[in-house]
Amino acid sequence: MKKPIILTIFGTRPEAIKMAPLVKEIANSSDLVSKVCVTAQHRQMLDQVLDIFEITPDYDLDIMKDRQTLSGITKLVLEGVEKVLLELKPDMVLVHGDTTTTFAASLAAFYAQISVGHVEAGLRTYDKYFPYPEEMNRRLTSCIADIYFSPTQANYNNLVNEGINPDVIYITGNTVIDALKSTVSQEYDFKDENLKKIDFLGKRVIAVEAHRRENLGQPIEDICFALKEIITKYDDIEIVWPVHLNPQVQEPVKRILGDLSQVHLLDPLQVQDMHNMLSRAHLVLTDSGGLQEEAPSLGKPVLVMRNETERPEAVKAGTVKIIGTDRRTIVEQTSKLLSIPSEYTKMAQSVNPYGDGYASSRIVDAIRYWFKLTDKKPDAFE
Ligand code: UD1
Ligand code: UDP
Repeated sequence: MKKPIILTIFGTRPEAIKMAPLVKEIANSSDLVSKVCVTAQHRQMLDQVLDIFEITPDYDLDIMKDRQTLSGITKLVLEGVEKVLLELKPDMVLVHGDTTTTFAASLAAFYAQISVGHVEAGLRTYDKYFPYPEEMNRRLTSCIADIYFSPTQANYNNLVNEGINPDVIYITGNTVIDALKSTVSQEYDFKDENLKKIDFLGKRVIAVEAHRRENLGQPIEDICFALKEIITKYDDIEIVWPVHLNPQVQEPVKRILGDLSQVHLLDPLQVQDMHNMLSRAHLVLTDSGGLQEEAPSLGKPVLVMRNETERPEAVKAGTVKIIGTDRRTIVEQTSKLLSIPSEYTKMAQSVNPYGDGYASSRIVDAIRYWFKLTDKKPDAFE
């Protein structure tokens, strides 16, 4: 029998980090053929991940434009993926999460009548514009997909409540924890020259990352002003912010925080540097989805600068707090963690609600089951 061709499609940094362990796992499976298509919705930030995980895409659509628009990305992905599908004729397309690459690639696969597997399926806020456009991207992808890989039970429940057949939903854990297992080590030496200079032992390092579309403009300025105020209150803290390459992030962050000696604005870090930086940080302030999953597993408190989250598991576990983007609230909540040891200790618990490092292996087992290459359904991540 011909081996099924599995085409993994992704375009941005977080998709790449979370798909990399799965691409490896598919390639290692003796009865599946692995092919990779990157849309390159991100360019430099994507290439950093491809380099580290040594993935050479079979197709690279190279679509990124400066200040690209959502419709612009959608059009280029639809057209580019259509050509790849016509040429390769894969048996299944895998997409990840909730980016515009994810939605447009799954739409192209549907138009070509190819099965779609949705990795990291079922995350929801049920608020159409928060996060924007991710909530609609992932809901639309759920409508198109044929097989679903949900990180957690709560994600599974969302899909079932939306009427998806439970038989095609697998609870797998999040592949980001698979990636984290391969990157973090106590002996790790940083590669980034600026990161090497930071005193992680003598100072309390606050890791910051923010880039969400709904935070562009006033919210990101408020975040910067809050950080500026926090460093005036504590001389033993250092802020490390690897700044997203979006010019709408770069401009305000560098303007407001660029000249402060306690603030280190770095280029985007390659993922090993990033994960090991997180593991040595004191706490994390972010609006990033991936960091909300990684930091709890490393026992780092996370203050989420958004008004809601599709990742309630670590909030319930007590390591993540949703604080919004109000300047005063950011200062108050961060100061509480910096000044009151019991508040810090309460949040600095290592919890793993998002995975155990075997998500990719469960996903491959589910794909093999889908193609009747095994009789055994994979056990769910609990
Ligand atoms: C995208 C995703 C978002 C995800 C985020 C992860 C969409 C609509 N948004 O948002 O869900 O959380 O990636 O980071 O899918 N740029 C570069 N080089 C890069 C990457 C970006 O210069 O390597 C600049 C470009 O000017 C680009 C801009 O950043 O136009 C915005 O990139 P885009 O992918 O549209 O939005 P993100 O905010 O990165
Ligand atoms: N990350 C990275 N280098 C950086 C900043 C983030 O490798 O300089 C990683 C981070 O550890 C996580 C992922 O990128 O795995 C998160 O991506 P991002 O915040 O861009 O997107 P989101 O998760 O919000 O969609």
